[in-house]
Amino acid sequence: MFTSVARAGRGLQFHVTAQIRQCVTMSAIEAGKKAAAFAAVDEHVKNNQNVGIGSGSTVVYAVQRLAERIQKENLNIICVPTSFQANQLIQEHKLNLGTLETCPKLDVVIDGADETDKNLTCIKGGGGCQTQEKIVASCAKELIIIADDRKDSQVLGTTYKKGIPIEVIPMSYKPVQLKIQELFGGEVVLRMAHQKAGPVVTDNGNFVLDWKFSKASEDWDKCNTAIKMIPGVVETGLFINMAKVAYFGTADGKVTKRSV
Ligand code: A5P
Repeated sequence: MFTSVARAGRGLQFHVTAQIRQCVTMSAIEAGKKAAAFAAVDEHVKNNQNVGIGSGSTVVYAVQRLAERIQKENLNIICVPTSFQANQLIQEHKLNLGTLETCPKLDVVIDGADETDKNLTCIKGGGGCQTQEKIVASCAKELIIIADDRKDSQVLGTTYKKGIPIEVIPMSYKPVQLKIQELFGGEVVLRMAHQKAGPVVTDNGNFVLDWKFSKASEDWDKCNTAIKMIPGVVETGLFINMAKVAYFGTADGKVTKRSV
């Protein structure tokens, strides 16, 4: 009886220690995201600009900083969202909301990434927003990437193992899946929702395929073009020659800036 109570106690202690370790790791990652986001907003946002607001968890810190600066410095900024989430963030912080209809030319877009290679080619779309993110980024003079330092790698696929997100028209998901596998190998999976039955549905009413490639391409540009030519493909999460600057934050608040 005593032994089993002691054993249960040790099990509980292990569980609690693992949970504390996980919390410490999480807050270290959040510290890195915040440091990168703050540095990017401080260096790239100026008065009278139209700013694209990316999507994901790192962008939350960028919007916080932007709201602080707008209030303190009385800046005149119009924010154009890249997703429903970004739209909500802009409104929650009571920032000026624009659209590509009212602001088709942007000064800068600040956005996260799932992984960034040595050329700043990015995988984006972990949150399924890559189509609007790419459209908005294509309208801006500069796309600035913000991320914690786990996302900084030399070769795509080193740290982000979930594959390249590809938004597709729902009726085309199966043929697109098969065609990508035939063309490039690897495995293409339909992204399933967690709190809804069936697949993830994007802000545009489409599905997302995740292409788990077996080897990083020597020529992502060619690969991206071939995938985009498949009927049914709306957009890929490969961002090539788009980002010129990236900020990577570490747990202790240090930020590394990389540019191409
Ligand atoms: C949204 O679809 C993505 O492209 C995000 O920008 C990317 O997944 C980064 O998200 P986090 O900032 O949450 O890591």
